[in-house]
Amino acid sequence: MTPVRIYIVIGGIMMKFAIVTGASRGLGEEVAKNLLTNDYHVITISRKRKTNDFKNFANENRQSYFHFSCDLSDLESLNDTAHEVVKTLNKNTVEELLIVNNAGMVTPMGPVGTLENHEIAKHVSLNLTAPMLLVNTLKAHVEADRFTVVNVTSGAAEKTIYGWNVYSSTKSAINMYTQTAALESDERGTNDLHIAFSPGVMDTDMQGEIRESDQDSFKDVESFRALKKEGKLRSAKEVADALQKVINNRDQIENGKIYRVNELI
Ligand SMILES: NC(=O)c1ccc[n+]([C@@H]2O[C@H](COP(=O)([O-])OP(=O)(O)OC[C@H]3O[C@@H](n4cnc5c(N)ncnc54)[C@H](OP(=O)(O)O)[C@@H]3O)[C@@H](O)[C@H]2O)c1
Repeated sequence: MTPVRIYIVIGGIMMKFAIVTGASRGLGEEVAKNLLTNDYHVITISRKRKTNDFKNFANENRQSYFHFSCDLSDLESLNDTAHEVVKTLNKNTVEELLIVNNAGMVTPMGPVGTLENHEIAKHVSLNLTAPMLLVNTLKAHVEADRFTVVNVTSGAAEKTIYGWNVYSSTKSAINMYTQTAALESDERGTNDLHIAFSPGVMDTDMQGEIRESDQDSFKDVESFRALKKEGKLRSAKEVADALQKVINNRDQIENGKIYRVNELI
């Protein structure tokens, strides 16, 4: 069992907290588990929960675990949840606050002019607005000695892909957000770190959804079907392990950098 590292300071016990969005499955689930084994108390936010699994896992690792059920694409619900998270954190002495903005969606897919407007709006809220609101609220209201943000991005942020006009745009915007937040923290000397993490292709539900699309909506669908058939998708666990190494070496982190899994494994 991993020993619990406790930082004793005058007036309280310092603790490391991590917030992981979209930890009910896929990459987020593995990221949250890794954090629990690396001395972080973990707060997860998603629509569904893995309560028993995570509670037992957290107990085994002598960490606390809280879940907030929230549809992150619903901005009112997101705002309420962010303030509930603030209340939870402010009851504790926070040595480090790590936010992993992982929850995301790839749909709607299809060329401009064929999409439903409400689906575009939901996607932008989840992939872009939610991370920005969460980070802004927590930075404003939680006192942490160290504040670290990991925004999960995609290779799609850096290239044009037929049918992914929405997904490429939100991931590209999250990269720019990351770089700008890093620049601001460097110039203000606030010692916050903001990085993006590009996980590459992983064997998760999201890839299943991509394979189920049709060629009119997503021209490259056959090459994504082939990735699965040829066993070329990484497991979410392998990818989460690569991210954990970056997190564990916080002193070496380059503020504003887009970390790509291919360069880490
Ligand atoms: N899979 C890949 O190959 C790949 C490649 C590049 C980048 N990425 C990125 O990696 C991240 C994780 O992807 P994944 O493959 O692990 O995805 P996934 O298996 O589809 O899991 C998505 C997670 O996001 C949560 N989520 C979805 N909609 C939500 C909503 N409206 N409100 C709150 N939570 C919501 C889901 O939880 P609930 O359903 O319980 O809400 C789930 O936990 C995403 O940002 C994705 O863009 C993935």
